[in-house]
Amino acid sequence: MIFGKKDHLVGLDIGSSFIKVAELKITGKGHVLHKFGMARIAVGTIVEGRIVDMEGLANDIRTLFKSQKIREKNVAISTGGHSVVIKTINTLTRPEKELQDTIYSEAEQYIPYDIDDVNIDYQILGESEFSPDQMNVLLVAVKKDIVTEYIDLIHMAGLNPRIIDVDTFSLQNAYEMLPYESQEKIILLVDVGASKTSLNILKANTSLMMRDTVSGTNQILEEISSQFDVTIEEAELAINGEINDIISQEKIQEISLKMAQSWCSEICEVVNTYQSGVNDEDVENVVLSGGGVFVEGFKDSLLSELEADVSIINPFEGFIVNEKKFPDSFITKAGPLAPIAIGLALRRIDDK
Ligand SMILES: Nc1ncnc2c1ncn2[C@@H]1O[C@H](COP(=O)(O)OP(=O)(O)OP(=O)(O)O)[C@@H](O)[C@H]1O
Ligand SMILES: [Mg+2]
Repeated sequence: MIFGKKDHLVGLDIGSSFIKVAELKITGKGHVLHKFGMARIAVGTIVEGRIVDMEGLANDIRTLFKSQKIREKNVAISTGGHSVVIKTINTLTRPEKELQDTIYSEAEQYIPYDIDDVNIDYQILGESEFSPDQMNVLLVAVKKDIVTEYIDLIHMAGLNPRIIDVDTFSLQNAYEMLPYESQEKIILLVDVGASKTSLNILKANTSLMMRDTVSGTNQILEEISSQFDVTIEEAELAINGEINDIISQEKIQEISLKMAQSWCSEICEVVNTYQSGVNDEDVENVVLSGGGVFVEGFKDSLLSELEADVSIINPFEGFIVNEKKFPDSFITKAGPLAPIAIGLALRRIDDK
C-alpha cells in the first residue's frame, strides 16, 4: 500500500467545462503531487449546475481515472453556484448546542429555497462587529436534489463519494496550503470558471464575505457564437487558434477584453462594498483562479482598478512535484484550473 493510513481521498472537481482529478501522497518530506489530470466534457453535459447527461459524464469520469491510472475509489467532490447559498448571518450569542437546535428555523429567512429542500451547515465565525451579544455565523445551504444527483453520478462512475464539499471552501483549502499564504492580510480569492464566478474575502483562514455570480468564460464563447453565427464548439476552437478563417484573433481579443472588464467591475463592486462596511481594512491581495485567468486583459484590468496585489494561483507550489511527471509547461497551464481538485484531495475521510 502506498499510503500509511488509508484515509486519503481522490479530489474530483466536476466543472461545467472541465473535470479535474488530483491525488496526493503524504510523505515524511511533505505532500507529494501523485496524480493530476483533467478532461474537457461536452458542451451541454452540465447546465446551470444540473447534470443533463448523467451517463456521458460518468463515463468521462471513468475514462479520466483510467487515463491517470487512479485506482483509489473514495472521492471528495464539491458543488457550487446555483446549488449553494452561503450567507454570513448575525445572531444572538448562545452555546453551540442551542444554536444547533434553532439554526433551521432561523435559516429560513435567509435561504431562497424551502428549508426542507436543503441541507444546512454552519460555522460560528466569532463575535459580531456590531454588538458583543451577537455573533457571526456562516450559513451554508446546499440543495438536496443536486447533492443526490452528484452522489448518483459518482456511484454510476463506480466510485464512492465520501465528502461533498462546496467549491469556494475547497479553493480556500488549497490556498491555505500555500507557502506564501498570509494570516495578517485581507485576501480575495477569485474563481472565474466557465459558467460561474466565486468570490471569497478572507483573513486568517476565516471568510469575511462570499459572493457567487453567473459570470464566466462561457460568456465569451456565447458572444463569439452569436456574433459570428458559429457553434460554441467552433467558438472555442477559434479562441484556441485552431480555426482562423472565420474569426480574427483581434476580434476575439476585443470580445474577451470587454468581458474581462465587466468581470473586473463586478469584482471591484464587491471589494468596494466590503471596504465601505464597518471594516476599515483594505483587500491587499487578490488571488485569481479558474479558466478566466487566461482571458487577456483580466489580470491587468484588476491591477489598474484595485489598489491590491493581483496574482494567479499555483496550487502545486505547496507540494513536492516530480518535474518529469509534471513539467513546468504543464503546471503553468493546469495550475489555475487545479486548486479545487487539490483542495478536495487534501480532505480526509473523517473530515466533517
Ligand atoms: N485562453 C483562454 N481564453 C479564454 N477562455 C479560456 C482560455 N483558456 C481556458 N479558457 C476557458 O476556461 C474554461 C475552463 O475553466 P474552468 O476549468 O475554471 O471551468 P469549469 O470549472 O469547468 O467551470 P465552472 O466552475 O464554472 O463550472 C474553459 O471553458 C475555457 O473556455
Ligand atoms: Mg470550476
